[in-house]
Amino acid sequence: MKVTVVGAGAVGAICADNIARKELCTELVLLDIKEGLAEGKAQDMMQTATLLGFDTKITGSTNDYSKTAGSDVVVITSGIPRKPGMTREELIGTNAGIVKTVCENILKHSPNAIIIVISNPMDTMTYLAMQSTGLPKNRIIGMGGTLDSSRFKYQLSQHLGCSPSDLNAVVVGGHGDTTMIPLIRLATWNSVPVTNFLSAEQQEKIVKDTMVGGATLTALIGTSAWYAPGAAGAALVEAIVRDEKKLFTCCVALEGEYGQKDICLGVPVIIGRNGWEKILDFKLNESEQAAFNKSADAVRSMNDVLKTL
Ligand code: 2OP
Repeated sequence: MKVTVVGAGAVGAICADNIARKELCTELVLLDIKEGLAEGKAQDMMQTATLLGFDTKITGSTNDYSKTAGSDVVVITSGIPRKPGMTREELIGTNAGIVKTVCENILKHSPNAIIIVISNPMDTMTYLAMQSTGLPKNRIIGMGGTLDSSRFKYQLSQHLGCSPSDLNAVVVGGHGDTTMIPLIRLATWNSVPVTNFLSAEQQEKIVKDTMVGGATLTALIGTSAWYAPGAAGAALVEAIVRDEKKLFTCCVALEGEYGQKDICLGVPVIIGRNGWEKILDFKLNESEQAAFNKSADAVRSMNDVLKTL
């Protein structure tokens, strides 16, 4: 199994580190446009192999896509990150060009790869990856909801005083501060609705804090987060290479599901060896569906910006 991570910045490096530690593949390529960065980080990670006990072979490459040839999964993290006060959407002008070039290069060398998109604005970059590669829809997966759902479980665990692992909770819709929809009505703590244990004020705060989860970290750190985004990318790689059939919320092409089409948006999907294999219908209530439609409108206008670039 061969995996490539494009972009050796903080998110790409953490993603690669998680993939190697879990030995999700035999060969792992880290690629970056900046001279020496990927080679350096790959070597640094390889020097942890005997300490951490993994056998994955990590190599770095400065923009030489021939090294990525025959990858089964490619994770795209390239592009500039957010600065404090910036929205993910403000990155579109710069990141669209970068992601398009990456997709074209990947496709030349790994025509059978499954592509995981992390670059922001993630919903639009996933749509762009679909358009620029022309790959079957199941092989293009945007990571956003996987990260946002993990952040949602963290926020819930803080209020419930429980382990995040005992929670089931998903965020659907877009991966934007105002477009994501944490589905608190459907969230459970070991099968019991979390709403049984939380006041209306607590629920409102959890939803709000989840939605601005990325922005909160950007303000604290000075740039966008990397541990959870990188781990979310690696969790998707794991579900693919191990054919886990696990449920994640991912940004995928909708063709009428959840009342939307010609858009990539976050919905619950089963992830396995074929990429995203099935969309689950969580039967949103009226207000959730209205929020989903509003999210789709916002993402669609962002997608329209692609035509002007
Ligand atoms: C985040 O939310 C990087 O979009 C990513 O932290």
